[in-house]
Amino acid sequence: MSAKSPSAPVIAVANLKGGVGKSTLAVHLAYYLEALLVDLDPQGDATDWAARSGWVQCHQAPTWAEAHRTLAKAEGPLVLDCPPGEGAHLVDVLAAADLVVIPTKAGRQDLRAVGRMLELVKEARRGHRGLKAGLVFNEVKSQTNLAAEVEEALRHLKDATFLGALGSRQAFVEAFAAGRAMTSGPAFDELHAVLKRTRKLLKEVQ
Ligand SMILES: Nc1ncnc2c1ncn2[C@@H]1O[C@H](COP(=O)(O)OP(=O)(O)O)[C@@H](O)[C@H]1O
Ligand SMILES: [Mg+2]
Repeated sequence: MSAKSPSAPVIAVANLKGGVGKSTLAVHLAYYLEALLVDLDPQGDATDWAARSGWVQCHQAPTWAEAHRTLAKAEGPLVLDCPPGEGAHLVDVLAAADLVVIPTKAGRQDLRAVGRMLELVKEARRGHRGLKAGLVFNEVKSQTNLAAEVEEALRHLKDATFLGALGSRQAFVEAFAAGRAMTSGPAFDELHAVLKRTRKLLKEVQ
């Protein structure tokens, strides 16, 4: 099944690795795209953030059956915060999405995990050829060598679009803890660039 209505684009934020910024990015995407946040991770970080935010709607869907029901009823954009790991239904989740956003750190092992994620994306594309994949480099140490690192990574990681890089910034930790979204400052500027490219990539799918 897939949600192809232009009014209900589905963005899955996923990575096999934990602690790479999936929930951080998912809540910001939901906030700025005015999307329903769907928390597929039983750990419930997105749910917790949404409860603190007071107004971002979040639906907890710890099973694929529940997520499927939410997707089927969707009338507006959805952002799915996925759990780490190669769960039984990860390919189903990806196949139901228009865009998978993969936050990753830039280390060798991290990029290997992204390589595996992109294999799963390829598998999901069998049911839905339009599915796009975007990479966000998270907690980058310096923007100085980033261009070369990204170029090198993308050479190996085919079929993925670079969506931007976020520095390692305390502002992200504080915003998450407080149920806020970034609205100004250097962290916001980086995030804004990611949002702009995400919107653009999503338009290409629809
Ligand atoms: N760019 C960043 N700079 C600093 N800390 C970050 C950044 N992105 C995420 N974090 C922190 O890293 C931890 C893991 O992030 P989280 O979004 O929960 O990852 P995941 O959902 O992939 O497990 C959290 O404590 C979060 O606040
Ligand atoms: Mg998470």
